[in-house]
Amino acid sequence: MERVSELLLYCRPGFEAECASEISAVASGAECGDGYVVATLPADLGAEEVDRAADWRRSIFARQRLPVFARAEGLSRADRLTPILAAIAQRGERWCDAWVEAPDSDAGKALAPFCRSFGNALRGAMKNARLLDVKSPQRLHAFFPQSTKVYLCSADVATSSPWPQGIPRLKFPREAPSRSTLKLDEAVIVLLNEDERARWLQSGMSAVDLGAAPGGWTWQLVRRGLLVVAVDNGPMDAVLMESGQVTHAREDGFRYRPKKSVDWLVCDMVEQPRRVAALMAQWLAEGRCRRAIFNLKLPMKKRWDETQLCLSILRDAVGADADVRAKQLYHDREEITVFAQRA
Ligand SMILES: C[S@@+](CC[C@H](N)C(=O)[O-])C[C@H]1O[C@@H](n2cnc3c(N)ncnc32)[C@H](O)[C@@H]1O
Repeated sequence: MERVSELLLYCRPGFEAECASEISAVASGAECGDGYVVATLPADLGAEEVDRAADWRRSIFARQRLPVFARAEGLSRADRLTPILAAIAQRGERWCDAWVEAPDSDAGKALAPFCRSFGNALRGAMKNARLLDVKSPQRLHAFFPQSTKVYLCSADVATSSPWPQGIPRLKFPREAPSRSTLKLDEAVIVLLNEDERARWLQSGMSAVDLGAAPGGWTWQLVRRGLLVVAVDNGPMDAVLMESGQVTHAREDGFRYRPKKSVDWLVCDMVEQPRRVAALMAQWLAEGRCRRAIFNLKLPMKKRWDETQLCLSILRDAVGADADVRAKQLYHDREEITVFAQRA
């Protein structure tokens, strides 16, 4: 096993370059795999900076960010457990759990049965060796990009994604009008913490949903008790309209403005990202909404540049100390989802 000072990042396959560009602010180099990136950290990077770099919530394109402490290639298929157990025992640390993972790529999906069975074997062996302690703030990750190659990482539970592979597996609610509903559901879980969800999404609050039809996002707001103006020229789901909590405005989402300020603006219009960012910035800057969640559909090329441009449009309009959080969610495709509120 080789001891290393690297950061392992999981991402959506096809977005490795964006993930690498994002970490380049702190990393001295990055190597892209299929669905993951390995970034080298400069030797003089302080512990606090490493912790910040590994904080999953700070990243847009990484689903997970993990400090690597050892890696090995050419493992024997007959016995992968012995060298891995030796490397983790040598570290002198205990972990609350151990996750065995593979990338979210075709090659990674083929490794899923192995990850399951090896995970059981590893946790069993760690228990016998007294390397597991439920009270430990650290979680062990054994990441297999191939069946004979492993990265061993020690993650801080507080700052790493709480889902294996960084993927929240949400169940599609049968009553929801569209699969897009999962995007807003995931955005609320990933971009807001528990306390914020409880305080900011309360029954009786008001929302505007731009590009709402057929109503998957509106459905998420309605189920939390919000009153929604759904703006779209397309038809809304009839059952959702029967909730009595939705007003359908057949208008252009770029022109529509509410008579009174609303608690939430959400937007899933398929439009140029910088146009959507400017519209969201305008609503927030003019005080037309308190908070917004919206999708930015990224172009085929220069997606990192476009992301930075859109976020700077927002910050310029809303204030440098505005709260802006962006993430490429698991249910996002060629897009990212942004939460923003004025300072
Ligand atoms: C991806 S779909 C929205 C799906 C919706 N969020 C859901 O969960 O069911 C995009 C919607 O944006 C609408 N749209 C696109 N441009 C618009 C505009 N300028 N004004 C209003 N709606 C627009 C389209 O009619 C379409 O229904």
